[in-house]
Amino acid sequence: MHRRVLQAPDSKLLERALKIVCIGGGPAGLYFGLLMKSRHPQHEVTVIERNRPYDTFGWGVVFSDATMDNMCEWDAETAAQIQQAFNHWNDIELVFKGRRIRCKGHGFVGIGRKHLLNILQLRCEALGVQLVFDTEALSDADFPDADLIVASDGIHSTLRQRHAAHFRPNIVSRPNRYIWLGTPQLFDAFTFDFRKTAHGWFQAHIYRFDEKTSTFIVECPEPVWLAHRLDQADQEASLAFCQSLFAETLQGAPLLSNARHSRGSAWLNFQRVSCANWWLGNDHGAHLVLMGDAVHTAHFAIGSGTKLALEDAIELTRQFERHGHHREVIGQVLSAYQALRQVETQRIQNAAWNAMEWFEVCGHRYCDQLEPEQFMYSMLTRSQRISHENLRRRDRQWLEGYERWFARHAPQPGNNAPEAHPNAPEEPWVPPMFTPFRIRSITLKNRVVVSPMAQYSATDGVVGDFHRVHLGARALGGAALVMLEMTAPSPEGRITPHCPGLWNDAQQEAFAGIVDWVHAHSDARIGLQLGHSGPKGSTRAPWEHGGADQPLPSHNWTIRSASALPYLRGGRIPEVLTPEGMQAISESFVQAAQRAALAGFDWLELHCAHGYLLSAFISPLTNRRNDDYGGTLMKRLRFPLEVCAALRATWPQHLPLSVRISAHDWVEGGTTPDEAVEIARAFRNAGADMIDCSSGQVSVDQQPLYGRMYQTPFADRIRQEARVPTIAVGAISEADHVNSIIASGRADLCAVGRPHLANPAWTLLEAARIGYRPVQWPHQYLAAKRQLEAAFERAGTSS
Ligand SMILES: Cc1cc2nc3c(=O)[nH]c(=O)nc-3n(C[C@H](O)[C@H](O)[C@H](O)COP(=O)(O)OP(=O)(O)OC[C@H]3O[C@@H](n4cnc5c(N)ncnc54)[C@H](O)[C@@H]3O)c2cc1C
Ligand SMILES: Cc1cc2nc3c(=O)[nH]c(=O)nc-3n(C[C@H](O)[C@H](O)[C@H](O)COP(=O)(O)O)c2cc1C
Repeated sequence: MHRRVLQAPDSKLLERALKIVCIGGGPAGLYFGLLMKSRHPQHEVTVIERNRPYDTFGWGVVFSDATMDNMCEWDAETAAQIQQAFNHWNDIELVFKGRRIRCKGHGFVGIGRKHLLNILQLRCEALGVQLVFDTEALSDADFPDADLIVASDGIHSTLRQRHAAHFRPNIVSRPNRYIWLGTPQLFDAFTFDFRKTAHGWFQAHIYRFDEKTSTFIVECPEPVWLAHRLDQADQEASLAFCQSLFAETLQGAPLLSNARHSRGSAWLNFQRVSCANWWLGNDHGAHLVLMGDAVHTAHFAIGSGTKLALEDAIELTRQFERHGHHREVIGQVLSAYQALRQVETQRIQNAAWNAMEWFEVCGHRYCDQLEPEQFMYSMLTRSQRISHENLRRRDRQWLEGYERWFARHAPQPGNNAPEAHPNAPEEPWVPPMFTPFRIRSITLKNRVVVSPMAQYSATDGVVGDFHRVHLGARALGGAALVMLEMTAPSPEGRITPHCPGLWNDAQQEAFAGIVDWVHAHSDARIGLQLGHSGPKGSTRAPWEHGGADQPLPSHNWTIRSASALPYLRGGRIPEVLTPEGMQAISESFVQAAQRAALAGFDWLELHCAHGYLLSAFISPLTNRRNDDYGGTLMKRLRFPLEVCAALRATWPQHLPLSVRISAHDWVEGGTTPDEAVEIARAFRNAGADMIDCSSGQVSVDQQPLYGRMYQTPFADRIRQEARVPTIAVGAISEADHVNSIIASGRADLCAVGRPHLANPAWTLLEAARIGYRPVQWPHQYLAAKRQLEAAFERAGTSS
């Protein structure tokens, strides 16, 4: 199409009150134009669009009921028209491995993009917004009279690029290929259809948006796309391919394309756009501000791009209302707009990122691994914004059906007979968190582990009364497995002089006393974590003067590591461990494991995380050796794997052995989540039954991204890709978190640390909170059980 290029402003359009020019007549530009004009008719508002009025790409867009409420408040007339045109639907349907599974309560609305734009265009015209079509605007300098220029020119924004040095856009191109199609086949649910081909999986995101048409977005990873030679396919061939792949769902209906705008392949890569700055004052004294896709994009997996664009327009209008519609305050208005919208869009982009990644990896991570029921659960919770209890609120019947399915697929509980749930009298209700888990000869009564936590309260490595009370209380508190803190196989393997050890009879007897107590008074299992401090040894307890990781004021012992690199900048330099030294340490681990078995422990964990000795061998940041124990990942793993294999050989065959790793160093050049999959696979092959997926503490330069359940993605990935059971840990603090993680198959167990320091009976408390009563309390405490359950029931927080 030949376009007129606008060289200079139409001065007649820009002469009264505020002169506002929106470049780009998508949802953002049109909606902002009409909102401003509706509030202050004296403003001169112009929207310049390079396309013709009814010429647009794309099919339908979706947004949630919440966006509609916001729009009603700001322009009731547009909202009413949009609402009339909307197709509402509540259900999500999965088509997968010959099954159809449906979940209700998701509350979406869909509208044709053309229809939406036409409503906005008509409203603009009715209000007196000047719409200039078929005109391309390439520079803000072409509008010297304008007070405000809104760059609402979409994802490839010319104005953003023109001032890229100021706006500092960050554009990330994602690996999947997608094509945005339509079909006359109608669907009564938001449908996700997954199809396996000889080269991998494809998925379609399908939703109806008017009486005659549904959107049909087909997506696959780039290698799958290339293997099918779709890079060489024209539009027709691409349509034919998709039609044949999704024939069963299309039932003879065609797929249609209207991507006339796109040159080259109709298959695109999603680009995530974010910007450091959102506005500037230009050389002509005008203000230029970015809006909508020009400043941020959100992946269609979360369907929020249009919502974000409309909400940008609302917020900018709100700020004008707040600060006044005067030229002098535009800078303040734009600062406030940026401050508020940047935070909100980042939140949505983060959620969209998780959802997008799920669709990018599902082909190799979930499709083959998960049963349709669990696949559906995993897909619904992909953004980690919808939790287990959230799903219960949306569709109680579906969730309880899934809970029953999950419970049937877990080993039957030996010691806590589930009771019938009021809404499902035919089968007992067991939330995923309270399903048992069996590994080797050990059946854990539920999925909660007290994470190992150093207490720095032993004397000469011998645990005493403190540990008996501390561990005993937690064993009574409802967790299935209580893990002891890192315990050293030799005196110099301790972190501090107050850490427990297991190299002599006194230590073994003290442990045996505690293990016996736990076995006699609870149905919890108790495990020992064995670890050697390496470069982080010979330090103080965290509460001692100077704090954690600082060398002792006196009586320091020689510390050893993979390389002569200190943990702290300027800290003590460890000696480099020789092969003979490694052999001696490996033997000390074996002897400690033998003592642990004699002490009666049910579980052994090898600590290969957090920068201690074995971790220091694994990470490239701390292992700079150039012998057979350094260099490639497999060489760096050699010593830790030798220790693991030696433990497996000596630790009783009927008892489980887990390995804790740092799945991410959170430092450039350190261990990555990709390598963590290799690391997990190697430990599994060396005899590990489970991988406990922690991260960090290897380098003081780490920059972890904390957040709830922030390490769970590592457990998920390792479980699916290395095919080894995993323990998730880190900021798991509610039953809702545990249920979501276990039900989705992101991990097999959840280790809960700090919440157990605050409350030894964390599991019992959470059971009462979600209304799960069959959980066993110590007889001595039963009076409190009924009271606690009643309190939650009165507060209405139990399920
Ligand atoms: C496959 C796919 C599916 C999507 N699905 C959804 C969904 O379900 N829900 C949802 O909310 N969002 C969805 N989106 C995103 C949504 O389309 C955008 O987020 C939304 O349109 C952004 O609005 P905007 O006004 O910022 O930009 P756009 O809608 O892109 O509008 C920009 C306008 O500017 C014009 N323009 C560009 N440059 C110039 C210039 N130099 N001069 C004049 N005019 C110019 C363009 O022609 C265009 O009309 C989807 C996007 C894709 C790619
Ligand atoms: C006081 C304290 C001591 C810890 N000691 C150990 C330890 O000995 N071994 C270990 O692997 N992790 C140790 N950790 C890490 C925890 O096991 C857990 O991974 C971490 O606290 C994150 O879980 P949370 O968010 O539930 O607390 C310790 C954590 C704390 C708070």
